[in-house]
Amino acid sequence: MRGHRHLRTCDFAFVLLVLSVCPSLVIADDTYKYERAISRVQRERQELIGYMTHNATQQGNWTMPRPPRNQRLDTWMDGKDKLHLEDHAYFSNASGFYTGRLSVHNASHVNATHMQERGSFVWEGTSPLAAQVSLVQVPVPHSQVTRIWGELTVRSHGMSGARSVTELDVVGVHVRPTGELYAVGMPQTSVQPLDIRAVLGMMPDTSPYRNDTFTACLADLDHRRERLQQMLEQGVAAPAPARFGQAQNNCSMQLYGQLQPSGPSSRQSSLDLVERELREPSGLALPRAPTLYINWAGTSSACGLYIASESMEGLARSQFWNDARYYVMGMLVVLLLQLVLMSKECERTQTHSDIARLSGISLFIQTMSDSFLSVSHLVLGFSMEGWLGRALLAMGFMGGTLSMVFEYRLAMMVLRQFAQDRRETAPPPATHTPALDPEASELDDMDVPAWRAYMTWMHRRIRTVWQAVSWRALLLGVGTLSMMVLLAIAPDLMNWLLVPVLFSYWLPQILHNAQRRSTGLHPSTIVGMTITRCYVPLYLFQYKHNLLLIPRSTFVWLPIGLSLALMLLLLGQSYLGPLFFLPHTWHAESLWDWHPSPEALAALLHADPETPAPDPATMDLGDCPICLMPNDWAAETSVPSTKLGWRSAAAPSGVMVTPVRTRN
Ligand SMILES: *[C@@H]1O[C@H](CO)[C@@H](O)[C@H](O)[C@H]1NC(C)=O
Ligand SMILES: *[C@@H]1O[C@H](CO)[C@@H](O)[C@H](O)[C@H]1NC(C)=O
Ligand SMILES: *[C@@H]1O[C@H](CO)[C@@H](O)[C@H](O)[C@H]1NC(C)=O
Ligand SMILES: *[C@@H]1O[C@H](CO)[C@@H](O)[C@H](O)[C@H]1NC(C)=O
Ligand SMILES: *[C@@H]1O[C@H](CO)[C@@H](O)[C@H](O)[C@H]1NC(C)=O
Ligand SMILES: *[C@@H]1O[C@H](CO)[C@@H](O)[C@H](O)[C@H]1NC(C)=O
Ligand SMILES: *[C@@H]1O[C@H](CO)[C@@H](O)[C@H](O)[C@H]1NC(C)=O
Repeated sequence: MRGHRHLRTCDFAFVLLVLSVCPSLVIADDTYKYERAISRVQRERQELIGYMTHNATQQGNWTMPRPPRNQRLDTWMDGKDKLHLEDHAYFSNASGFYTGRLSVHNASHVNATHMQERGSFVWEGTSPLAAQVSLVQVPVPHSQVTRIWGELTVRSHGMSGARSVTELDVVGVHVRPTGELYAVGMPQTSVQPLDIRAVLGMMPDTSPYRNDTFTACLADLDHRRERLQQMLEQGVAAPAPARFGQAQNNCSMQLYGQLQPSGPSSRQSSLDLVERELREPSGLALPRAPTLYINWAGTSSACGLYIASESMEGLARSQFWNDARYYVMGMLVVLLLQLVLMSKECERTQTHSDIARLSGISLFIQTMSDSFLSVSHLVLGFSMEGWLGRALLAMGFMGGTLSMVFEYRLAMMVLRQFAQDRRETAPPPATHTPALDPEASELDDMDVPAWRAYMTWMHRRIRTVWQAVSWRALLLGVGTLSMMVLLAIAPDLMNWLLVPVLFSYWLPQILHNAQRRSTGLHPSTIVGMTITRCYVPLYLFQYKHNLLLIPRSTFVWLPIGLSLALMLLLLGQSYLGPLFFLPHTWHAESLWDWHPSPEALAALLHADPETPAPDPATMDLGDCPICLMPNDWAAETSVPSTKLGWRSAAAPSGVMVTPVRTRN
């Protein structure tokens, strides 16, 4: 037994080693990075103040970057000026989620530097590119201008269909009286810092809002410095450029936005009231916040690009979170309905034959998709605060109950019974005695080094595990592994493969019904579960301002159509017979003959082809299991036909034969 003690020591040492190495890998000291960032922000602040107050010593050698002029951009700016900006009412809080499309053009001169900075993002992909902007607007005291920050996400598909994503951090200002936005963006993969001061260079020199913009820029720099200081004190790891999931590029951008007016200037006060009510609810019944539209245009001097958007549609942030309650209410109804339906189904399914009518695979697919939904609700709920987070947690919990308590239990009942039936019909497996390993038994007694004992132990473990592996398990393992690989290298392809499987959850049940010539589930369960399962995909892919900001897609109707078609098929099986969809010749099944003629019975009982068939007249009929009396042809057959006796093959005999499964 000494060998085992050595093994424990080995394991323990290994764990200690891992524990001591890991933290030093993960937690590096970022103080230096923070100090450098803080001093950079302070320097930027000084330079900006110097620039605005015309103090050359304070400004140092920094100059205000001037964005390149561009023919297209000038045209866009001219069109914007035609709006008569002052006499319109604007929704004053541009915080929101905007979706729309961007088109990207080469700026006049494209040189090698530009091409290199464009990196691996497919700017010339399937134009126009899908884009999303999420903005947060923060008030600046004593100023008509507010500062904004957020994110711009651009998605593109190359000619080969490969997906390419770039996300830019955006920071800038919003001039509330005119609905103008000036912002700079920097890809998250780039190491260069984001510099809000450039918005002053983008603003026309004649703009009356330059001083306010200056104040907003200072407020942003101050906030940035405080945040860095805070993070340093709390010991948070310094943010690093994104490396995974995004295309590498350095295309910093100068973005000009124009909010579309929400009405004539007389509406301004009512718009302000709606905005205030959303920000600080006081129970007033007011109309919804208007849909916001922003037009964007921009240039990337680093990459030689000109960018223009179609008008991007957005929903005010607070309205967006307010609207989430409709999703919550709908989902609660769906979950309650599903719980009721499944609990009824569980109640109905009690006997052996009820269980045998259900398809385990069908239930298993549903369990999987419901537990996935439940887990995603839980994860979202944990990451959100307030009532929405709690509501999502509650829904995750309900979804978990549905999948674990009802669907999983049913699926397990079916699978267990299936396994039991198989065990009863299959021949008993050959008893397997593991060959004794002479070396192994020796090892415990002899004093061997710990590492050798460990190696032998590992070797033995691997061998036992290998022996226990069946082909089925191996296939399952290889399948799972290849699915993971596929998920890593081609998530799109994986979706295309997985979605049809997840939405044909009734297919195994249909096949099971056809195979067993029976129907399992109650029609109310079939209809209810199918229709309620359409809710989440429809919400995510048809409602534009959904919680996950997934763009609208008509492709969602394909899987929904598939599941509805399968539902109709299953209903048809319930009402018209399990084989109704097959031509009649297919379900000409041989009917069981309850009163076989003696010859037919002899052929039925005659299993061994070697020996000649027994003579029907002298055949042993055994005892009648009900009356416990010996069976007798003569007595029985005298009933139907006295003229020809049992020798007539056409006349049915009086012996009744039922199919019985014998247990070995
Ligand atoms: C310019 O800035 C420097 C350093 O901040 C300061 O010492 C100096 O007085 C300023 N000059 C003027 C004219 O304000
Ligand atoms: C001017 O800029 C360069 C590089 O950007 C820097 O090394 C130098 O110290 C700056 N000079 C002053 C006076 O700030
Ligand atoms: C933009 O410029 C690049 C490099 O010169 C060229 O390959 C590409 O075709 C141009 N795209 C358009 C739309 O002109
Ligand atoms: C490319 O453009 C950049 C910026 O416009 C310029 O600094 C650089 O010299 C140009 N390079 C070439 C090779 O023309
Ligand atoms: C982006 O810029 C950094 C240096 O600022 C450079 O190392 C990197 O190669 C650039 N990336 C691309 C895709 O050009
Ligand atoms: C705009 O709305 C957001 C979200 O509701 C809020 O956090 C922000 O303070 C508001 N900004 C202004 C300037 O009122
Ligand atoms: C902006 O501020 C400067 C000095 O702080 C002042 O001279 C100028 O008149 C101001 N401009 C506007 C438009 O208020």
